[in-house]
Amino acid sequence: MRIEDPKIVAALPELSVELRRASSLAELTSLAIGGTTDLLRIRDHESIPGLLSLLDYHGVPHRFLGGGSNLLVGDGELLWIVLQLASPDPDVVLEGNFAQVDAAADLGRMVTYCAKHDLGGMEGLIGVPGTVGGALRMNAGAYGMQIGSYVREVKVYRAATRRIEILRGEQISFEYRHTSFAPDDMMLAVKLELPSKPYKEILQGIRICNEKRRSSQPLGQKSAGCIFKNPPGASAGRMIDELGLKGLSVGDARVSDRHANFFVNAGKASAKDMLALISNVRERVRSAFSVELDHEVVIWNA
Ligand code: EPU
Repeated sequence: MRIEDPKIVAALPELSVELRRASSLAELTSLAIGGTTDLLRIRDHESIPGLLSLLDYHGVPHRFLGGGSNLLVGDGELLWIVLQLASPDPDVVLEGNFAQVDAAADLGRMVTYCAKHDLGGMEGLIGVPGTVGGALRMNAGAYGMQIGSYVREVKVYRAATRRIEILRGEQISFEYRHTSFAPDDMMLAVKLELPSKPYKEILQGIRICNEKRRSSQPLGQKSAGCIFKNPPGASAGRMIDELGLKGLSVGDARVSDRHANFFVNAGKASAKDMLALISNVRERVRSAFSVELDHEVVIWNA
């Protein structure tokens, strides 16, 4: 979609918003799949209510993009524009055991930065790609921890009230790969409280998680992490593996040989290919185990 209205285009510089015409979502997502649309890069949180009112007034549909690492975007010309936060410098500020982190900060860099300042707890997240905002929205977790446990405050733009609000940790529910944020809430920043731990000890934990991840996940390949959530008490990866589906392909979309819940783009896969593979695998799991798998990956295909 293109922003055609000259009134919108003229208002953007005042709002510190940069317009990037015809951006390829394939270049902005870890799966390297997705069509094109106009992208707005937001440099100042305070301009968001004004920008969103402008877009709503002119009827411009939009979606919020984080790091694009847990996202499958449809092919071709997209029917909505994309908004993305630009990362400020610095994007992490420490005070005692608290880390004030911008939502656009890279998750892995944030974990490493805190570790170097003797703040731990998030070792499991070290290999998880994406932004802090994306991790927060999905309550990203691995190796027995989840980011939600450390959240004390979240700064969020709420489309429902059209305001920036600060929520206390207790006001948000963090569940397995799910939070109580509304789909149109935009994560802006988070205050984490992290346990003190010597850097060397944190590094040890990071090395162990890295090793486990390297041995079980296809890290060098284009993927969006796990495609399906684990059903209660079971492992989606193990079920798909047991059905012998590793290597199953539709076009260049392929079930990873290393971890069966990772579907990789082995070349020039389209969203159509990937969606067909997802529904094929889900159907086979349904008929073999009578289990309905839920997406873990976020799908923007409408
Ligand atoms: N397994 C197989 N074959 C496979 C994959 C896994 O037999 O192809 C078996 C493993 O041997 C193990 C069990 O299934 O006994 C569980 O596998 P794993 O330890 O890899 O964990 P997972 O449940 O598949 C979850 C998260 C990952 C996270 C890891 C580590 C979900 C959907 N996945 O995977 O998160 O990195 O635990 O904590 O919750 C993600 O969210 O995108 C993601 C990759």
